[in-house]
Amino acid sequence: MAFSRHLTLLAFFSLLGLTTAAIPSFGLQGAKQIRSGLKDRDFRINPGKGTVFTTPIFTARLADVTTFPALAGTDVQFAIVRFTLKSGASFPRHYHPRGAEALNALTGRLLISFTFEGLGQVRNVTNVIRPGESTVFPQALTHETTCISSFDCEFLSVFNSADVEIVRAPKP
Ligand SMILES: *[C@@H]1O[C@H](CO)[C@@H](O)[C@H](O)[C@H]1NC(C)=O
Repeated sequence: MAFSRHLTLLAFFSLLGLTTAAIPSFGLQGAKQIRSGLKDRDFRINPGKGTVFTTPIFTARLADVTTFPALAGTDVQFAIVRFTLKSGASFPRHYHPRGAEALNALTGRLLISFTFEGLGQVRNVTNVIRPGESTVFPQALTHETTCISSFDCEFLSVFNSADVEIVRAPKP
């Protein structure tokens, strides 16, 4: 029993070895080279020390590959943004064509929604997200975020793409 399991594992690993030898992945090698050249502390990512964007309604602190190269040392690239959204303010309707967004509430209550063509009808998924809770916006789907608490909201959004392109979506 143990012996046959051992054989199965061996077969599995030799298969893996064959696969990597036969199909070189330049993407993986690039990520490996990038992370090999970084110090341990480079993997501590603080969006508060990233690039700051300020508008009348929100402040965004962006950790991306330009400020935190460790984000390019992964097999899927990421960008992490810490937002402060004014009490009562809404982000304009928008979507991200290149990645999904995982939003994590830190302070305040957020009314969030996204919309998509469901099975034969348009669906609108709406929730209130509280501190400690998260939600996900699927890639390329229009979404809205409103800070509904009496004080400013803070949240951290993680994108599974190096490129957090924002496209304004028209009103429905
Ligand atoms: C979802 O529905 C609510 C309530 O009608 C609306 O305010 C919001 O704009 C809709 N969300 C999207 C992303 O269309």
